[in-house]
Amino acid sequence: MKYDILKILKERKEFISGEELGEIFNVSRASIWKCITKLKQDGYNIDSITNKGYLLYDNKDILNSFEVMQRISNSNLWKKCYYFDKVSSTNDEAKIKAFNDEKEGTIIIAEEQYEGKGRQGKSWASARGTGLWMSVILKPNILPTQAAQLTLITGISLCRAIKKSTNLEVYIKWPNDIVINRKKVSGTLTEMSAEIERTKFVIIGIGININTEEFPYELEKKATSLKLETGKTYERREIVSNVLEELENVYLQYIKTNSFVPFKEEYKNLCINMNKDVKLKYKNNEIIAKTIDISDSGELIVKDNNNQNLNIFSGEVSIRLDDNNYI
Ligand code: BTN
Repeated sequence: MKYDILKILKERKEFISGEELGEIFNVSRASIWKCITKLKQDGYNIDSITNKGYLLYDNKDILNSFEVMQRISNSNLWKKCYYFDKVSSTNDEAKIKAFNDEKEGTIIIAEEQYEGKGRQGKSWASARGTGLWMSVILKPNILPTQAAQLTLITGISLCRAIKKSTNLEVYIKWPNDIVINRKKVSGTLTEMSAEIERTKFVIIGIGININTEEFPYELEKKATSLKLETGKTYERREIVSNVLEELENVYLQYIKTNSFVPFKEEYKNLCINMNKDVKLKYKNNEIIAKTIDISDSGELIVKDNNNQNLNIFSGEVSIRLDDNNYI
């Protein structure tokens, strides 16, 4: 009932009495008052004045399952959203739920992660209220080997959503770093459970630095946030809904064709690695090579010093800049 009351307060935009709310829901004014108290504890600014009732002043920074689901109510994919104040990692939470048969299209969001995970065993700084820390459960009918392609198309959806929300120029550093002005603003951690030929579920974990104002010294040169790039504070709930909308678009198109090919051109256009000198790990050695293409299945194709083409499946690639530094 708490969120039903919230819905009415949002629509009404003027005082509504406890009595009227009580009549709408067929409950006492005391029950309404209890829900209002919970909404206030959740962070909503609600004025309560004797003889007038309740008035909501929208708190633009608020994020919860109601705010998310309300914005994507027309979705054919997103069914349910769990919102946590604090978790170790939304990916871990999503995995537990998926092992317990949670359905495709479930979203897990946290205000704060105390053990946020990045790719390749790294950690992911996920301070309270500064960004989007979200994981989604998907159950695509794909081979386990295709799961990496989901990371690539998620990258496309993130670029589209961030561009739509901020109008900034957003790029992908292969495979899945989202960068603005050569600094990382977002990343994706894809995890899965599979048998040899069957994918049981895929967890896509997305982190976006939204309103972060400063990074620790060691990240300062490499990381950025939407706020640092534009000077503006963003409503996280608007960014989340743009991300979920674009992710749904790319995902539903992907499972229809079961192929990365329809996305290849867009991915290549967004990819800042194209035609660059790069440093990367190949078969346990660090090599310098030139990137030349993305394959139909999403691998990075590079030419090494011996003029041989190599297909790179995963890993980290640093790009050489004009000043000989690497990002
Ligand atoms: C990377 O670029 O290294 C991937 C970062 C992924 C971070 C997100 S935040 C939400 C989800 N939960 C996690 O623990 N990690 C992902």
